[in-house]
Amino acid sequence: MPSLQIINYPHPTLRHPSKPLKKVDRTLRTWIEEMFELMYQAKGIGLAANQVDLPFQLFVINPEGDRDSGQEMVFINPVLKTPKGSSQAEEGCLSLPGVYGQVARSEQIHVTGFDLQGNPIDLVAKGLLARVIQHEFDHLQGTLFIDRMEASDRRLLSDRLYEFELELQTRQESGTIPDNQTIKKRIETLENQYC
Ligand code: NI
Repeated sequence: MPSLQIINYPHPTLRHPSKPLKKVDRTLRTWIEEMFELMYQAKGIGLAANQVDLPFQLFVINPEGDRDSGQEMVFINPVLKTPKGSSQAEEGCLSLPGVYGQVARSEQIHVTGFDLQGNPIDLVAKGLLARVIQHEFDHLQGTLFIDRMEASDRRLLSDRLYEFELELQTRQESGTIPDNQTIKKRIETLENQYC
């Protein structure tokens, strides 16, 4: 089994709405361990499954971004409800390295779902934790933080985004990233196995 890699914008899996997981097996547990490892290596605090090309409603978080000090959380089939308040802050994303921008999020959010052991999650999150959960939840719907930026802010990033687009094209032409049809087939295979 090849190890996972973080995929960058505009890889099509980042735009694919993820499906709920119906089972957790040994392979999935290994993938989740790898997701934490990749997240720490990239100095992130959250990573969604479709950022490693897995089309599942699953994300991992450690708000400290440090294996030794923070709390590792795994969210499976998360649902967000009763958003409260609003706050503006700068965000980045491991699938858009070097890109940052102001994003408005709910200040507080109620999240339900399941952890890796199958225990129900029922959590009211505030501040940074609420922001990370909303950012990762967005990934599962195929939404990126740049979609939520003010149009005027996003325009300032257009050259950089174009570079990402050219890079994907180049990598698909050279074969280091599969073509769109192959990516789509792989997603279908994984969904048939796990969803
Ligand atoms: Ni992200």
